[in-house]
Amino acid sequence: MVRRETWATRVGFILAAIGSAVGLGNIWRFPFQTADNGGAAFLIVYLIAVIAIGLPALLAEFVIGRRANINAIEAFRRINYSRWSFAGAIGVLASFWTLSYYSVVGGWVIRFVYGFASGAVLEMPSSYFTDVAATGVDAVALHAVFMGITILIVALGVEKGIELATKFMVPAIVVLLLGLAAYAFTLPGAAEGYQYYLSPDVGAIVADAPSVIPAAVGQALFSLSVGFSVMITYASYLSGDDNLGTDGLSIAIANTFIGVLAGAVVFPLLFAAGIQPGGDLVGSGGGAGAVFVGVTTALANLAPTAARVVGVIFFGTVLIAALSSSISLLEAVVSYLVDNRGVARAPTAAGLGVVIFLLGIPSAMSLEWLGWFDGIAVSLLLPITVVLVVFFVGWVLGPEAVDEIRRGTRGGGSLPTAWLWWVRTVLLLAIVGVLLLNLNDIFLTPESGYYIVPGPLR
Ligand code: PHE
Repeated sequence: MVRRETWATRVGFILAAIGSAVGLGNIWRFPFQTADNGGAAFLIVYLIAVIAIGLPALLAEFVIGRRANINAIEAFRRINYSRWSFAGAIGVLASFWTLSYYSVVGGWVIRFVYGFASGAVLEMPSSYFTDVAATGVDAVALHAVFMGITILIVALGVEKGIELATKFMVPAIVVLLLGLAAYAFTLPGAAEGYQYYLSPDVGAIVADAPSVIPAAVGQALFSLSVGFSVMITYASYLSGDDNLGTDGLSIAIANTFIGVLAGAVVFPLLFAAGIQPGGDLVGSGGGAGAVFVGVTTALANLAPTAARVVGVIFFGTVLIAALSSSISLLEAVVSYLVDNRGVARAPTAAGLGVVIFLLGIPSAMSLEWLGWFDGIAVSLLLPITVVLVVFFVGWVLGPEAVDEIRRGTRGGGSLPTAWLWWVRTVLLLAIVGVLLLNLNDIFLTPESGYYIVPGPLR
């Protein structure tokens, strides 16, 4: 048997995991979720969800992955609970499913990079997204390009592809976003953007709790790449005795920091241009168009050269972030076939990539379909996987999970045991609650969300 790959360094693993976590979720999904769910109120609930739900669940995935050192489906068998393999399989399915529309959005980003480079976007800033970029043959073609790049990196392997790529990508994202945030700070009207973003209306959280809380939890988990078997897969390439707790904490902190930083770029830009997040933007192609339309309209107010430079930098940053996530989604699926069927990595990545591309075509043809795919992924597949993983780690693995967390630490005091009890009780109940609320929305009150199955493609 071929020796299974591993990360070359601990930092390599952490950066790859940060690269997976930081992506369109932070820059594209987060602002419109915030706008749809009451602005700063959402930010607070999201931050709590990251700490109370996201981080402990991330550690649960790490435990499974490192204990088993094999792909997310086989992992359960390897640690002697083969009956639980379906939990990993649902996660892998979630990755497969999610990449199909994630890549469509990645295609839009490519479109905006060159649209700004050529200046074409600036000729029609408010309608470029809906009229040119969002749907149609070009959207399909650019979805193919985005998948192509993703396939190439994954085909190169864990160390020479994913680790090497993310080693450059993550620092680049941070530097570019810091530059953009500093720039946004200088804009007149930026203050209003910060205010919207940073002053929560606690009344709104309480009034809308049944919809704000599940949305925030879903966003926290999606943003940390939890519930997709991705973090199980990445942790399975760990060979040494890393401290999983501190690794998880660094990843959660970096992801939150970059997410909040992205908000500090996007919201001032919108307000400086007099655009209300939510309101106007929802009309322009649904929430999915918010960042594209908003940022573009905002930049169109600048002198043309400045607008083009800032636009290319902004969407270039988003593109890097999107790719460092899409490779993790593909890797979660590829690793299963490579480990279990012994097929070579490159053809596997290419073959799967093509199938995922085909699955994404409806999303590239219609925004309703894209919204529906996103709804099923984040409101259904993700929480189902997390309920199973959390139950498994808490109640089935139990003390064994605590041993795994302690490995590579000086014992960690009583923290690992506290974590286990948290996972068994609060985390499990919370995520079951979220799943039930979502099921209620999907099956009993579909008009509340984007769960109505869209009509056939025209
Ligand atoms: N966390 C990524 C983002 O925020 C998306 C993602 C989800 C990546 C699940 C991998 C797995 O964009």
